[in-house]
Amino acid sequence: MTQKIANDVYWVGVRDASLVVFDIVVPTEHGTTYNSYLIKGEKHNVLLDTSKKDFSETYFANLEEICPVKEIDYVVVHHTEPDHSGALKELLQRNPDITVIHSRPCRKFLDNLLNQDFKSWVISSGDTLDLGGKTLKFFVTPFLHWPDTMMSYLEEEQILFSCDFMGAHYTTEKTDSILNSALSEEDHKDMVEAFEFYYSMIMRPYNEHILKAIKMLDELEIRMVAPSHGMVMDKNPQQFYEWYREKANNYLVRLQSKRATIVYASAYGNTARVMEFVREGMEDAGVEVDVFDTSSAPMEQIINSIELASAVVFGTSTINAKAPEPIFSVIANLVVLNVSGRKAAVFGSFGWSGEGITMCEDLCRAMHMKLEQEPFRVQMTPSDEQLDQAREWGYGLGLKVLG
Ligand SMILES: Cc1cc2nc3c(=O)[nH]c(=O)nc-3n(C[C@H](O)[C@H](O)[C@H](O)COP(=O)(O)O)c2cc1C
Ligand SMILES: [Fe+2]
Ligand SMILES: [Fe+2]
Repeated sequence: MTQKIANDVYWVGVRDASLVVFDIVVPTEHGTTYNSYLIKGEKHNVLLDTSKKDFSETYFANLEEICPVKEIDYVVVHHTEPDHSGALKELLQRNPDITVIHSRPCRKFLDNLLNQDFKSWVISSGDTLDLGGKTLKFFVTPFLHWPDTMMSYLEEEQILFSCDFMGAHYTTEKTDSILNSALSEEDHKDMVEAFEFYYSMIMRPYNEHILKAIKMLDELEIRMVAPSHGMVMDKNPQQFYEWYREKANNYLVRLQSKRATIVYASAYGNTARVMEFVREGMEDAGVEVDVFDTSSAPMEQIINSIELASAVVFGTSTINAKAPEPIFSVIANLVVLNVSGRKAAVFGSFGWSGEGITMCEDLCRAMHMKLEQEPFRVQMTPSDEQLDQAREWGYGLGLKVLG
């Protein structure tokens, strides 16, 4: 099934209602769509993205309904993740004369994806393609969410083809339409939830880049947003766009923050005791501190706090030569944030070898966090003297957080 969404603009994508997990870690309660669009001009026909390879048969059948592949002149690859570029190789096999339009960083990805020669046009922001009666304008918007991401804007129809930005893993069998204006109120609520969840799982690490893109896109009149997943937003596109701006502002909030997040795991209360004094020291230095015990704090709260903190402090026990699982779990969940360059420090109590502390430090380094000082280690139960030292260690760290 295909759909005309504006004058000479067609949705030719595919629905994947049965998808339950996307990219290994993203649950997709409402399935998803792989959106592809065809624009027919008086001079040229241009295809925007393709689909996941597994859906090639349906995809090409849809596409041929609107335009024979032989009559397509250009394909815009907004991003090379295989959910959108999976059918590209077959497209070029069917018509090797098609010119691939892409960003500069995309070139290498395309070479590695296709392993063949192809006609290529590297665009810069502001470049336009005259389709005959229609003008497509391009924007390079890196890291939304890959280095190669770009977007297109159809001037005459005021449609922003936004790639994964403003996307949602959502589809429903209750309507054949791809437009959000066709959803019932109840389904629209589900769609909005999926839209927000998509941001929190996929776009959230890139707030800084969202703000950069928005600065460029603000010049556009946007009547419709056509992302690469989920519904095309003809109803209230501006509202969704502003929602993104507000979320992305968290990046600026964090830059000005004087906050630290302490996350700790403690079996017998030794690391917990050290934590109290580290916290006191940091607060004495003037830092606002959020503390989370991994055995009771909801993961979402921990991650939300880290998002807005200028430093992350891990307190860890050592169990069987490792940091305990909840510490690894917090680190794994940092996948939805960008912690590169973030200030960090580690403390903990151990019995005889203390690998938990070392592992935690190694992982911080691997995530390009900035370890501010040597870890604070205590063997078994901290003495009063060690607790004083913990406070001093926290105070010194606090000054670095503020500095
Ligand atoms: C099951 C278990 C395994 C442990 N394995 C280690 C270990 O491999 N290396 C080590 O340095 N300490 C080990 N310890 C000792 C604890 O790290 C030590 O008692 C520490 O003070 C506990 O701090 P906590 O109360 O904050 O958890 C182990 C303790 C338990 C209970
Ligand atoms: Fe993607
Ligand atoms: Fe995608």
